[in-house]
Order: sequence, then C-alpha cells, then structure tokens
Amino acid sequence: MRKDNVILIGFMGSGKTTTGIGLSYRLQCTLEDTDKMIERREGRTISEIFAAEGEGYFRKKETELLRELREGKARRIFSVGGGTPLLEENRELLRELGRVVYLEVSPETVYGRLKGDSTRPLLQGDDPMGRIQKLMGEREKLYRAAADIVIPADGKRTAQVVEEIAKKLEQENKDENFDY
Ligand code: S3P
Repeated sequence: MRKDNVILIGFMGSGKTTTGIGLSYRLQCTLEDTDKMIERREGRTISEIFAAEGEGYFRKKETELLRELREGKARRIFSVGGGTPLLEENRELLRELGRVVYLEVSPETVYGRLKGDSTRPLLQGDDPMGRIQKLMGEREKLYRAAADIVIPADGKRTAQVVEEIAKKLEQENKDENFDY
C-alpha cells in the first residue's frame, strides 16, 4: 500500500530543497534530502562519489536508499536527486513511497540558478547550458511519467509553489479520502 509521504522530483536547480523546506513547515512534516543522506552514509560529497566510483555507483546507492525508505515511517517529505526518477525501478519505488510532485522549470531558470555551481558533476564542462538542454530533453517525459502532480515553477516564489502543492495535495486527499 502506498505511503503518505510527499516526494519532490525535478531537474537540478528546480527548487526541490527550498520548496521542501517551505512545504515541511506548511504540512508540519520532516524533510529528508536523499542526496544528503547518501553523502552522510558515504562520508564524501556527491562530486567525490562521482569522481571516485562513477555515476553507476551513485545510481545504485539511490535505488538502495529508496528501497530502505519504503520500509521507514511515513508522513515525511523527500527531496530526491534530479536523476532519481530516470530508472523504471526508482519510479516504482517513488510511487510506493508516496505522492510524487514534479517541479517543472525551464533550462534558462536552471542555468540562471546553477551557473558557476561546482557541486553538480553532470553540469561541469565548457557548455553547461547545452548539457542542461540535452539532459532536460531526455528526462522531461520520465519526470512526467513518475509524477502524480506537476507544478510549473518558473518565475514563482517558493511560497507560491508551496501553496500550490499543498492545495493540490488537499484536493487529492479529499478525492481519495486520504488522510494528511
Ligand atoms: C543529479 C542531481 C543531483 C545529484 C547528482 C546527480 C542528476 O541532485 O543527485 O549530482 O542526475 O540530475 P540535485 O537535483 O539535488 O541537484
């Protein structure tokens, strides 16, 4: 049976962390960031993990963590890495974990927020905007496939995004008699 957690998905820089913080106050739930959980467990940063072990290793850790979280207590908000919903198995695990909310933003928004960022190994190199466009093009349909709720987030303040999510969750809960 599906758990009553909320999971925020979306591209790097889509605002999962800031939205998660706002939503945790709004819904009075704790927030967990799966990237940070992996970093804590591994005792090294995502960049260090990618450099030493490669992306495949990191992806395995993401899937392992989702499997464990499914067994944990519910009524939490999870912010997951931008690549988590790419694997079919992960999309299923996310659904079992709770309501999946996709924060949809444009490549320009991501670029504006992340230019100069050195913590995202997948966006390093000469042409970050080209990388963002390419990855987003590949991922867009997978994010949509994973999502129960899609929130267009471009140009909106965090408080507005939080409110839209809360309203949609309330509506869904009413429709499905789901208790929050
Ligand atoms: C990744 C997103 C990152 C992090 C890793 C890979 C991705 O998380 O998991 O660098 O593949 O999109 P954020 O979305 O929190 O930046």
